Amino acid sequence: MDKLLLIDDEADMHYSFRRIFDTPDIELATASSGEEGLRLLPRFKPDLVIMDIRMGGMNGLETLRRIRIADARLPVIMMTAYGTTQAAIEAMKLGAYDYLLKPFEVPKLKEIVTRALRASHAMRQVIAVEPELDAEDVELGIVGRSSAMQEVFKLVGQVAGSDATVLITGESGTGKELVARAIYQNSRRAKQSFVAINCAAIPENLLESELFGHEKGSFTGATAQRIGRFEQCHRGTIFLDEIGDMPLATQTKILRVLQAGTFERVGGNETIHADVRVIAATNQHLERAVTDRRFREDLFYRLNVVRIHLPPLRERRDDVPLLANYFLRKLGKDSRGRRKSLSDAAVAVMQAFRWPGNVRELENAIRRATVMAKGDTVLPENLPEEVRSATAGTAPLPRPPATATPEAQDAGIPTPAADPSAEPAPPDVAQLARQLFAWAKEQRDLRVLPAVERELVRNALLETGGNQVQAARLLGITRATLRKRMEKFGIRSELTFQ
Ligand SMILES: Nc1ncnc2c1ncn2[C@@H]1O[C@H](COP(=O)(O)OP(=O)(O)OP(=O)(O)O)[C@@H](O)[C@H]1O
Ligand SMILES: [Mg+2]
Repeated sequence: MDKLLLIDDEADMHYSFRRIFDTPDIELATASSGEEGLRLLPRFKPDLVIMDIRMGGMNGLETLRRIRIADARLPVIMMTAYGTTQAAIEAMKLGAYDYLLKPFEVPKLKEIVTRALRASHAMRQVIAVEPELDAEDVELGIVGRSSAMQEVFKLVGQVAGSDATVLITGESGTGKELVARAIYQNSRRAKQSFVAINCAAIPENLLESELFGHEKGSFTGATAQRIGRFEQCHRGTIFLDEIGDMPLATQTKILRVLQAGTFERVGGNETIHADVRVIAATNQHLERAVTDRRFREDLFYRLNVVRIHLPPLRERRDDVPLLANYFLRKLGKDSRGRRKSLSDAAVAVMQAFRWPGNVRELENAIRRATVMAKGDTVLPENLPEEVRSATAGTAPLPRPPATATPEAQDAGIPTPAADPSAEPAPPDVAQLARQLFAWAKEQRDLRVLPAVERELVRNALLETGGNQVQAARLLGITRATLRKRMEKFGIRSELTFQ
């Protein structure tokens, strides 16, 4: 359960918050003044504070300053009325997590609370390097006895104490974020804030302003000054996730921060100093990105001084049983208070699998298997189909039935060609998809796959002036499939000419 503390001198606001957060996963406490809020902190131990800027007695900014001294890792969201944004900007400089303009809409409030709680967890949930696996309470930790992981643990210990920039590389789901948090928690900055930014999830033109802030009027839409993450996170640690997707112009600014500790806000002249430790991560092959001129060579060398590489799970299969048991215990007891266990056969099946989604995929498989298992033991049949079929040896994945090429289909000739979609995507497609996916998973109510499919179909028809044969060829599907998609999405061919 997450604990939320509201500090506001208006009783109406207390009432609204009680109604909005009347949910089993949130415990709410309210204080009517800054003084009362500060008194409550040590007793209530909130995960998040939401506070009005303008209050009788000690004002919001002064209260914020004191909260930051008491606990710099506690995210504080400031509420401010229109016309008092300057105070909100001051609050951001003092390290407030974010601010909310009043009056606000409930979904907006909930969204910002969810984000802030996530940040709060990232700072506070202790990550144990090599957790005690037999303990009654399972700690969140980095599990692994393989020599590759032992090497990772050693490096985490060695670099944590210094302020060195660290580059963490590895495929998706190998534990990069976990390692970043472990480094932070074992560093001298552990009591200061930790901010994670996913460079791939923020549109290119906004990333620079997110990181460094901007001045009022520096571009259309910049209606007020904005304090960026580097300024806000002074003395703390910034985790630049997916740094391989960072635009070149932003890379230049990052290099300067790393070398000189200075930057300017977008559209600003004032040079700002920030004392921030940077931990970066990527699942891209950065050397290749340097060759392709997508990544600055000097920045690469600057980052690469301390590098921690997380090998894919298939290269440390000895860790699979350990990880599987850890996740099983972490999921806890079932409704009858019993812990499930893994059958030897299930372990063998898991150990043989390639785990393209790495540790994250294994965790999901275990979660699913515990739901599927009827008894106390997880059997191979409770594991996802793709995991089970891999042990059959020769055919790792059930291939979809072969389809005809567009040309053949249009001519009515069925050809037994292999489905090209079974092959791995070219790197560009993989990169675009990764960016799109990173963005899409932050969007609520977006059905990304149909949305993308629809837009691709529309584009192909526009490009070809509505010629379905050509459009299908561009899309790499049959004309029949194209027609089905057009029907599904309600795209009429005559409309596409306009
Ligand atoms: N060695 C490990 N021990 C325990 N849990 C792990 C380990 N490695 C990864 N996990 C878990 O797997 C999941 C994915 O890890 P994480 O988010 O750190 O991966 P990532 O490398 O950042 O992935 P991505 O590139 O997709 O962002 C998390 O739930 C994490 O807790
Ligand atoms: Mg990650």
